[in-house]
Amino acid sequence: ALISLRQLLDHAAENDYGMPAFNVNNMEQVHAIMEAANEVDSPVIMQGSAGARGYAGEPFLRHMIDAAIEQYPHIPVVMHQDHGSEPAVCLRSIQSGFSSVMMDGSLEADCKTPASFEYNVAVTKNVVDMAHAGGVSVEGELGCLGSLETGEMGEEDGHGAEGKLDLDMLLTGVDEAVDFVNQTNVDALAIAIGTSHGAYKFTKPPTGEVLRIDRIEEIHAALPNTHLVMHGSSSVPQDWLAIINEYGGAMGETYGVPVEEIVKGIKSGVRKVNIDTDLRMASTGAVRRHLQENPSNFDPRKFFKAAKDAMKDICKARFEAFGSAGNA
Ligand code: G3H
Ligand code: 13P
Ligand code: NA
Ligand code: ZN
Repeated sequence: ALISLRQLLDHAAENDYGMPAFNVNNMEQVHAIMEAANEVDSPVIMQGSAGARGYAGEPFLRHMIDAAIEQYPHIPVVMHQDHGSEPAVCLRSIQSGFSSVMMDGSLEADCKTPASFEYNVAVTKNVVDMAHAGGVSVEGELGCLGSLETGEMGEEDGHGAEGKLDLDMLLTGVDEAVDFVNQTNVDALAIAIGTSHGAYKFTKPPTGEVLRIDRIEEIHAALPNTHLVMHGSSSVPQDWLAIINEYGGAMGETYGVPVEEIVKGIKSGVRKVNIDTDLRMASTGAVRRHLQENPSNFDPRKFFKAAKDAMKDICKARFEAFGSAGNA
């Protein structure tokens, strides 16, 4: 059944678990997520980015998620629009039936320029007013995602935001977060606490605390009724990185957010954990390996199935680690 983000994350908060929110672009990803959720009895959040809408087309994206809901009627599913760049984008998703939208007013509509607090409040409040009138949930974002190590922004919604940022933008402030939620009434708030988008998050194997867990705790204590969201939460699996490179790929050395660190974040109040890169890497590694090991094959279903199985394993591992397994 289709449910709103607020409904699902309220349940997650009451039962102390976190929800992975997987980006979807094609049928194989939808199948992987649903098969995994079905096997471990987890609810599901699937989200479509601007890039996904450009790739699949909005009707295909939406109908793929609707098909999943039809095939698995016992699994609660949130259909979420990721990183809306302006209110009009969110309005279209609300009208077409998404149960949740993200208005990312942390950047201006070009998805590159860090926006002012006042701009962010104005566009986000506008979306909340429209969405809540129809029972649709809203996620906002305060702070700019980027590496605390280098100040680089990484990829925001695939548009490749450029330039270095100051530390005060890379870390969401507690007072500012309270002010933002009071003025906008968002259901969920994406915060900047040390993660960044894309595969290139950390240049060295992360040791000790890679996230600002202390800041998550402070924001959660100040805003107990607002569900905290962590973008850029791929773990960049080293086994898939090695397989990609072994079978002809050329990815550089890179590290993601360790799953144990995300679990600490969940214990500190994070409820939604955005993951895209991990499934991309599993998919690419599995296809590269399958094609090289089966050179006579020309049936795409064979390598797409290998991709699906690889993604499914990661989905199951995240549902289990984050504690959503058993909660469908
Ligand atoms: O936030 C970024 C997501 O990974 C989506 O990326 O716009 O390339 O689909 P995309
Ligand atoms: P990753 O690039 O770490 O998978 O993050 C995805 C994301 O935040 C989508 O909104
Ligand atoms: Na989102
Ligand atoms: Zn994101």
